[in-house]
Amino acid sequence: MEIVIVADPEAVATVAADAIQRLVTDLPTPVLGLATGSSPLGTYRALIERHRSGGLSFAHCRAFLLDEYVGLPAGHPEAYRTFIERELTDQIDLPPDALAGPDGRPENLATAPARYEQRIAESGGIDLQLLGIGSDGHIGFNEPTSSLGSRTRLKTLTDATRTDNARFFGGDADAVPRHVLTQGIGTILEAGHLVLLATGSSKAEPVARAVEGPLTAMVPASALQLHPHATVIVDEAAAGRLTNAGYYREAFANKPAWQHI
Ligand code: GLP
Repeated sequence: MEIVIVADPEAVATVAADAIQRLVTDLPTPVLGLATGSSPLGTYRALIERHRSGGLSFAHCRAFLLDEYVGLPAGHPEAYRTFIERELTDQIDLPPDALAGPDGRPENLATAPARYEQRIAESGGIDLQLLGIGSDGHIGFNEPTSSLGSRTRLKTLTDATRTDNARFFGGDADAVPRHVLTQGIGTILEAGHLVLLATGSSKAEPVARAVEGPLTAMVPASALQLHPHATVIVDEAAAGRLTNAGYYREAFANKPAWQHI
């Protein structure tokens, strides 16, 4: 795992957007794994800016969401599909039918997980998966105790996650759906490159547990330790609990110019 420590959230966004831009520029049919939550918003803003003023095109890309709430009506402002359309894909030239997310309609739950896995497989697999990290160490919506081999499936959110996400639902944790569909940890681990973003001191502890703690289903983000190409990009505040921060800084500062994240 490579740990990249930069000054602030803007620098986190720049490093992540650079990696995505390189992929989108270099590959004939890039497949992007998109995350929701606040952590990737700066990266999305940087990509939109590069599209508008730098001509970066996503017309040849496909994109898959990590997860989705169950039971929110189509077009609900906090449904993850609506969120990603608003915050990214409506503002770039990704073709609308190139965006896919898990189908969170209750009547489709029996078949939706397998169909989503199949769509990802048919795309040839995700080249770069963006990830945030929950305060309990979750990735996607894989809550603690999620199997490290899990596939896309229905999950029940913990009260802690519903409380964390209440800010998107007018501060009301009861308004946050209890159930979600999420790519499994095994699904996520099949992406070519995992890029986890974290900013702010509230993420310092989960980041340290994921990066320097033991591999454990109690900290789903620790599964990144199993991946051959995982990059954790954090600002100084989110790096605050890392024991080996000096080593990570030195390794990144001395990277040869040709060696990208
Ligand atoms: C939600 C999402 C995760 C995200 C997490 C952290 O639970 N399902 O993908 O990583 O929130 O959110 P934030 O980036 O807003 O801290």
